[in-house]
Amino acid sequence: MADSTKSATLSIGDKTVELPIHHPTAGPDVLDIRKLYSQAGVFTYDPGYTSTASCDSTITFIDGDKGELLHRGYPIDQLASKSHYLEVCYLLLYGELPKAGELEEFENTITRHTMIHEQMHNFFRGYRRDAHPMAVMVGTVGAMAAFYHDSTDISDPHQREIASHRLIAKMPTIAAMAYKYSVGQPFVYPRNDLSYAANFLHMCFAVPAEEYVVNPILARAMDRIFTLHADHEQNASTSTVRLASSSGANPFACIAAGIACLWGPAHGGANQACLEMLKEIGDPERIPEFLARAKDKNDPFRLMGFGHRVYKNFDPRAKVMKQSADEVLDLLGVEDNPVLATAKELEKQALADDYFVERKLFPNVDFYSGVILEAMGFPLSMFTPIFAVGRTVGWVSQWKEMLNDPQNKIGRPRQLYLGETARDYVDIENR
Ligand code: CMC
Repeated sequence: MADSTKSATLSIGDKTVELPIHHPTAGPDVLDIRKLYSQAGVFTYDPGYTSTASCDSTITFIDGDKGELLHRGYPIDQLASKSHYLEVCYLLLYGELPKAGELEEFENTITRHTMIHEQMHNFFRGYRRDAHPMAVMVGTVGAMAAFYHDSTDISDPHQREIASHRLIAKMPTIAAMAYKYSVGQPFVYPRNDLSYAANFLHMCFAVPAEEYVVNPILARAMDRIFTLHADHEQNASTSTVRLASSSGANPFACIAAGIACLWGPAHGGANQACLEMLKEIGDPERIPEFLARAKDKNDPFRLMGFGHRVYKNFDPRAKVMKQSADEVLDLLGVEDNPVLATAKELEKQALADDYFVERKLFPNVDFYSGVILEAMGFPLSMFTPIFAVGRTVGWVSQWKEMLNDPQNKIGRPRQLYLGETARDYVDIENR
């Protein structure tokens, strides 16, 4: 728990309550209201947790006004340019950058957990071919609890460690299998001689009929996409994982819950929704029409890939993603990509528009990622599963941190009840 040298005094009627104020290492001070109900008999009200810290954490820090994202103190742009995904995984899980031997051992461990139980292949075959890969992932990751009994005891640190490694290692395999199943192609087994990102591309795009050599520049771009999605502190899916875990649920059930939450278009589903929107706009001349719709409060349409609960400045991940989009399209020899052109023009017009300026709405991580993923050959339905692959380490790190926290309690929010008060049951003939 953070330091608390200050406190706030709250007076409600004839009661006065002293509330400690905690000082984080970065970010605003935090008012500790844990004793509020027992001392003053009131709850706080904060739908969507806009002002509420639900836990302590040492993993990730976001300064939304500055547009800064730090993992264990390291800025995301440095990690995206100098590090790579598995090193970032180690950093998130264990708190420090690994030494060479530690990294080698970690990579070896993850690589040796990439295959899934052979019987899970039958499980896949039960899905309809046109199932959304996210539906398949929610089901399959939840089903891991039925296949890996030896890593479901959360009171055993060794089992927790193995579950973490299994989840990080097997998520690309599961996502790639969901894709292969949807296109009617045979599953491709993982290759332990390839890097994490190259192996994922190979499992997605190789076929038994011919050799598939992974382009190292595309593997690097894929690795960067995973890195940019690795963690994002207490976002909706991470909070879902923590809440599910607070009851003592097994890790596979908790991560499946996180995947389910990620799927929504306000969260990870935004990358698919954003590319669909850019294609619907089609011609940059139609941008004003879509901007007008986004501003119209009677129209539910929102500019996808824009806005963020925490960032009130550029999402630092979007900057790296935009640069990657240019690099990948250049590498693939795509000179004029109409979707990228529409995205850039939309960004320009939105950032010059008072509505977006006043509300501090900037492009987020999902704005440019779809352009890159489509250029790599992924269908739209795979965008959110790829986000899930990258985010798995974040969910797992936060889950482990929570289980090690002595203050861990079952998550159980209160409510502002506005329904009927007690009344007598009325027999059906008298209603
Ligand atoms: N287009 C148009 N207006 C917007 C948008 C948008 N994308 N985002 C926010 N606003 C407006 C909103 O209508 C509100 O206006 P007013 O004050 O006049 O009522 C104001 O900006 C504040 O919005 P909010 O809904 O109170 O903000 P929030 O923090 O609850 O929502 C958000 C954050 C990300 C859900 C929202 O910005 C959004 O729906 N964006 C589009 C979906 C998207 O791109 N999501 C990906 C987020 S980043 C990756 C991830 O987390 O998975």
